[in-house]
Formats: sequence, C-alpha cells, structure tokens
Amino acid sequence: MPKPKVLIVDDEASMRHMLSLLLKKEGYGVDEAKEGAEALEKLAGEEFDFILCDIRMPKMDGMDFLRRAVEMRLPSTIIMMSAYGTIDTAVEAMKLGAYDYISKPFKTDEVLLTLRKAEERERLIRENISLKKQYHFENIVAKSKEMHEIFETIKKISKYKTTVLITGESGTGKELVARAIHFNSPRADKPFVTINCGAIPENLLESELFGHRKGSFTGAVQSKRGLFEEADEGSIFLDEIGELPLQLQVKLMRVLQEGEIRRVGDTEPIMVDVRIIAATIKDLEREVEGGNFRDDLLYRLNVLNIRIPPLRERKEDIPLLIEHFIGKHNQTLSKRIEGIDPEAMELLLDCEWRGNVRELENVIERAMVLTDEERRIQAKYFALSPGPESEGFRSLSLSGDGLSIKKGSRELEIELIKKALQRTKGNRTQAARLLEISCRALIYKIKDYGI
Ligand SMILES: Nc1ncnc2c1ncn2[C@@H]1O[C@H](COP(=O)(O)OP(=O)(O)OP(=O)(O)O)[C@@H](O)[C@H]1O
Ligand SMILES: [Mg+2]
Repeated sequence: MPKPKVLIVDDEASMRHMLSLLLKKEGYGVDEAKEGAEALEKLAGEEFDFILCDIRMPKMDGMDFLRRAVEMRLPSTIIMMSAYGTIDTAVEAMKLGAYDYISKPFKTDEVLLTLRKAEERERLIRENISLKKQYHFENIVAKSKEMHEIFETIKKISKYKTTVLITGESGTGKELVARAIHFNSPRADKPFVTINCGAIPENLLESELFGHRKGSFTGAVQSKRGLFEEADEGSIFLDEIGELPLQLQVKLMRVLQEGEIRRVGDTEPIMVDVRIIAATIKDLEREVEGGNFRDDLLYRLNVLNIRIPPLRERKEDIPLLIEHFIGKHNQTLSKRIEGIDPEAMELLLDCEWRGNVRELENVIERAMVLTDEERRIQAKYFALSPGPESEGFRSLSLSGDGLSIKKGSRELEIELIKKALQRTKGNRTQAARLLEISCRALIYKIKDYGI
C-alpha cells in the first residue's frame, strides 16, 4: 500500500516543522505550505490524502481555503487546526465539509489518532463504493437458496452481452431480475428499454421495435427510430416474448444473428449494439410444439435461462418480503405499522400465492390501509384469493344440462375472464396474464362475449 500523503498548511514555521517530523516518522508522505494560496497551488498539481490546515492565517485564512478546496472537489480529507478562540469556527468548518478539527495546543497522539480515524473512514467509504459498484440488489428481497442462486447467476452473466431468457409465473419478479441484470452490467449508464410484446397491437409492433421510414404505411408521416435504436449500447427488455407474432420472430432472429435491424419500409440495415433480455410466463417449448414459437429463436434466446420459482416454492422468502413491503408502504401510506401478528403470518405462509410476490404485496398493502389503531397487521384484514380447493371447476356452475363442448367452454371462458377481471380490479393486462392468454386475445373475447 502506498503511504498516505499529508499536506500541512500553517503560517507558523515551528508548527509545520514539528508536524512534519512527527508524520514522517509515522510513515506519512509530507509536504508543507505557508498559506492558503500556496496550498491551492500544490493541490492543483498533486493529490493528497489528508490536509491539515490551520484556521488562523494571514491573507487567505483557513476557512477561505476550505471553501475553495470544497469547490475544487478535492479528494482529500481536510482536518482543521483551531487555536484558542476559534472552536466555533472549527465547528462551522465541519459543516462546510472539513472532516474534523484538532484544537491547539494538541498532543502528538491526538493528531495521529485523528488521522487514523480518517483513514479508517476513507477505507470504509472506498470499500462501500466498490461493493456498490460491484452489485446491488437492494430492491430484490430474498432469503431462499433459489433466489440467491439467481443473484449469483446475475453476477456471473451481467458483464457479458449474452441473451437471457427469464421465465416464471406472473408476479414472480421477472422484470426486477431483468433490471438487475442491466443495472449491474457495464451498460448500466446506457438505456434500459422495456417493451411488452403482448400489449401492443400486432400491426404496430414491428415499427415500435425497429422503427419505420416516412411514408412506409398510412400514418407514418415521419420517420421514427424504433426501440432497438433507442436501446443502442444498452439493453432491451422484451417482456412477454411468447406473444411475439411469428413474422416478427423471424426479424428478431436476424437481429440476434447479425446485430442489425431494418426500419419498416427501409432496406438499409442499421447496426445496433443491444443486449437482449426476454421474459415470458409461457412454456416456450410447448409453444414451439404448438407451432406458435420458432424453435431457432428459442435456442437463440435460451442461451441462458433464469427460472424464477413461484413464491409457494420458496416460502422462506415470505417473512422477509412482508417486512420489506411494510417498510415500503409505511412510507407510501405515511403509516407506522410495526409488524404482523403471528397468526396472520401463519396464514400468509399457508397461501398458494398464484399471483406470487405481486399478490403478496397487494394483500399487505390493503391490510395496511385498513390497519389503524393496531400497530400490527391482523389476519382479519386479508382478502386472500381462495386456495385451489375452492377455485377452478368446482366453483364454476355450468347452466343447463346440455353437453355441448362449444357452449360449455364458452361459459367457462366467460366465467374465468370475469374472475380474472375481478381479481385485477379491471386491469386487462394483468387479467390476461392470469388467464395466460395475450392481451389482444382477451380484448377480443371481452368484446365477443359482451362482458
Ligand atoms: N424478490 C422481490 N423483492 C421485492 N419485491 C419483489 C420481489 N419480487 C417481486 N417483487 C415485486 O412484485 C411485483 C411484481 O414483480 P415483477 O413486475 O418484476 O414481476 P413479473 O414476473 O414481471 O410479473 P408479470 O409476469 O406479471 O409481468 C413488483 O412490484 C415487484 O417490485
Ligand atoms: Mg413483468
């Protein structure tokens, strides 16, 4: 380790001399300045770890020096030396950005101790910065082995441009994981562009993704960059990739193979450097078997697969998630709820959680809204979705006793769609997810069945 360097700024020659001897003996590299201006000159050409600066000096005094040093954003830790009667000023100096002060006259130990303390703090800050620089998953809460394995995977892969396919049920945290991959990658300060392939009408999707040339179709009054261009040098998150129409799957293949896109109505290829992260709740292998998904695209995307297990397979995450959501919504709701009743916790641990973490968060948020007097969340405030026993076919009553599959499945669909819409409070995108159909298909059915 290189020895730390200290700049001593004091108008008194004897003081400079004494400190210089002391610090050299302790292994510091030392330089001196007689006054503020001289110190600033030295600092312009050289970096010091520490500056020991007297407050009372002729011409530029210590405070002026400090202000200038702070303005210059020096990396040095500044420690002020205050003589009798300048303690107040020393305190003010700390507010301005000095790290500490020593009052004169001081014992040599005091100087060394203050420097050591400052060094230790510097070390901690540096460590912290490098930890943060390495990886941050603050907003993904998890205790389970499965989730920690996912963190490890993210750490390993984020620095490469490898395409990642994230699979998992609705609400398991696919988007969070996608973000973690991007923001822990060297592309972090470049764009992270998201598109939900199931939420955009098929005829607009291509132009959305790849852009279009002016006049290439009715309504294309101006040329437009697509999301791939927007994401250049960054990442694009293709959510609900299973909804991508076959014709566009072919075009996506080309991007993956050749790293170039073509705007709608344009023949000129445009080179893009984009990392692709895709997510789906669908079983794409099955989609391939059913002819809805190209197998070559699946292999291309599936270079690396992250499967996020459903919440019911990692129940040990539940208590931590609850704590996290209580903290989060204490803020959003301005509440001061302290925790959850053991009985209520038990109930939540027993749930199926078909809506996974998102559903858990909704349940907690709702209960928090209703919790008033009590400081802890009570079970009576839960509106849990029924478990598997009370759901599904048993609770669906088919009218009449005809055996027409056509009619029966129509009724079944209507019932399921209504339930899904109820559960998502009318949110069609979410309802479509629960129903495991595309948003487009849902909207069509809603119209068709007059729901
Ligand atoms: N491990 C976790 N820690 C904290 N919050 C989480 C975690 N997992 C999910 N969440 C929260 O749950 C919600 C759903 O997460 P996210 O949108 O990433 O899921 P998803 O898998 O993309 O869902 P969908 O398939 O419905 O799009 C978000 O509000 C997210 O912040
Ligand atoms: Mg999502």
